[in-house]
Amino acid sequence: MKIVITRYLPDDVTKELVENFDVVMWEKENEPMPREQLLEEIKDADGLFTNVADQVDYELLEKASKLKVISTMAVGYDNIDVEEAKIRGIVIGHTPGVLTEATADLTFALLMAAGRRIVEGMDVIRENEWNSWGPFFLTGQEIYKKRIGIIGLGRIGLGVARRAKGFSMDILYHNRSRNKEVEEELNATYCELDELLTTADYVVLLAPSTNDTYKMMGTAEFAKMKKSAVFINTSRGTNVDEDALYHALESGEIFAAGLDVFDPEPIHSDHPLLKLRNVTALPHIGSAAIETRLAMARLASENLINGLKGQPLVHEVR
Ligand code: GLV
Ligand code: GLV
Repeated sequence: MKIVITRYLPDDVTKELVENFDVVMWEKENEPMPREQLLEEIKDADGLFTNVADQVDYELLEKASKLKVISTMAVGYDNIDVEEAKIRGIVIGHTPGVLTEATADLTFALLMAAGRRIVEGMDVIRENEWNSWGPFFLTGQEIYKKRIGIIGLGRIGLGVARRAKGFSMDILYHNRSRNKEVEEELNATYCELDELLTTADYVVLLAPSTNDTYKMMGTAEFAKMKKSAVFINTSRGTNVDEDALYHALESGEIFAAGLDVFDPEPIHSDHPLLKLRNVTALPHIGSAAIETRLAMARLASENLINGLKGQPLVHEVR
């Protein structure tokens, strides 16, 4: 059987795949396999090892007449046409669990960086603008005991809530369903989105990307937030209306934003949001800790092998 791996992966990750299958692997790590090549290679492939940057859409699936398993090295799978794959009997694997803590760490790091203007502070030094200590120079927002509002309390949201408890934060969350365990463990309070937006000092977006969450943070939502509020997004760029966010940040409607995701990605230095000093931006690195990425790659590999052997995937998208 043939598998296509759309990014270069180290030998210790691919070893088992190479032993079991005919492997076509793109040689670059930080650049996607060109679309035309992927569309060509997929024609006789049984398995696909993919990631958030490939569009596994109708066009691709239409060509993939032999494809049995799609394995993405990610928890999110909004880049995959799940419905179409299912119609074609293709199973899909993803990598939840192993990236929860690393992504929660990065989310909290962004929260602290945006709230306390950490990157801006370094920029000031680099640009030789540090002239003296100033009473209100680079003053940001306190974090300890402030109120965090988490939109989307899945595994990662829970991880962020646990970190917030360490900072004695008052924890609000909004989610499709209530989580009584979390309410007890962390003294977290479930609330409607409106209450979360109007009262939180830190609004953290961790909802998956679906039709329901598309641009769920827009003009009306940012307008409800406190002027001192900080917005964090480590979910998907598509969950945010970026023009509305730009306006809210530029006009001082909210204090700052910490963003790890954009729509589309990648963004470049000419992106409007990067012209704002109150934006801390990262290149979609939520899960990018070495051990985590290795665990994700291994899990994605296991999903692929299981699927092609007709066994249950470790984590199947259903
Ligand atoms: C990354 O964004 C992922 O979904 O794993
Ligand atoms: C993803 O792991 C989530 O449920 O937050």
